[in-house]
Amino acid sequence: MMDIWDCALGFMNAQALLTAEEMGVFDALDSGPRTAVEIADAVGLRKDLAERLLTTLCALGFLERWPDGRFANGPEAAEKLVRGKPGYVGAMFRHIREDLYPVWRYLPEALADGSAQWSRAFGPQPAPTERMYSDQASLRAFLEGMHAITYQAGTEFSAQAPELNGVRRLVDVGGASGAFLISVAQSFRSLQGTVFDLPAVGPVAEDFFRQYGLADRLNFHGGDFWEDPIPAGADCYSLGFILHDWDMEGGSHILARIAEAVRPGGLLIIGEYLLNEDRTGPLHVARMDLNMLVAARGRERTAREYAEWIGAFDFELQRIQPTSMGKHFLIARR
Ligand SMILES: C[S@@+](CC[C@H](N)C(=O)[O-])C[C@H]1O[C@@H](n2cnc3c(N)ncnc32)[C@H](O)[C@@H]1O
Repeated sequence: MMDIWDCALGFMNAQALLTAEEMGVFDALDSGPRTAVEIADAVGLRKDLAERLLTTLCALGFLERWPDGRFANGPEAAEKLVRGKPGYVGAMFRHIREDLYPVWRYLPEALADGSAQWSRAFGPQPAPTERMYSDQASLRAFLEGMHAITYQAGTEFSAQAPELNGVRRLVDVGGASGAFLISVAQSFRSLQGTVFDLPAVGPVAEDFFRQYGLADRLNFHGGDFWEDPIPAGADCYSLGFILHDWDMEGGSHILARIAEAVRPGGLLIIGEYLLNEDRTGPLHVARMDLNMLVAARGRERTAREYAEWIGAFDFELQRIQPTSMGKHFLIARR
């Protein structure tokens, strides 16, 4: 069990981390240890106030304090919280700060009426995803943040996925920046692939294909899976963290479109978090399930629920590959 006070006051930890990342504290320490005055100057704070934030970041383990009094990034912060580094995940923090944090205030209301709480949190304006997708800078930041997380899991999966030997074409539905497809294409050198996603995502995905030197094998196909056909005839389709965004009706629509598009005997790879079968956790998935309630139209599910669901579309679950960060890949064949 988590300590009651660590849990009840956990929002303070989150705010300290999110605020420090936004202000650029970890960026300021990328070139090496610095004094509190130097950090305060770099991020535009008063020294005494900066020091209070730095103390909390040390206590949380993101920073270290050297014997000479200077502060330095800890290993995790140096790898994942410095802008421009390949492992940078801080781009996701903007979404957490600006969209998720305000909406979680309305968890009681979401539990009472079973629906997302955007309008209570933000008033009568478009949902945050629509706002984000109408602004190239925030769209790119969101996709880059997601890229780091998905690419790592995809690379781990690809190293242990013999089923992909011989696959000629993979279509990643809702494939975003191409993180999963890129990781697979790096392991399977003759595979060609397509990211199918909303048209606004295209320029970001195409930049990533070029950046990884894969523009000759990977392409982007813009479309809306509620209205447009998914590119047909591939021998493998993937759905990474799409089904958990939707209720049964929405997810079934997407699965039906893939079932129509896939070649006979083709593969379906589903990336998802998995709830324990007895629904006691794990914590990061149970918490994400509440997030899907308050901030989306979806939910987290167990492996058995996914197997039954895709079974209704004639996909047979063959194997589940866990990767780090609690992400699982379900490999099914039609
Ligand atoms: C949670 S993200 C998952 C991204 C990626 N598959 C991954 O695993 O990192 C959901 C993705 O679905 C895409 N998406 C949402 N609605 C869509 C629609 N109607 N048609 C096509 N793609 C959509 C979003 O643009 C986003 O890239």
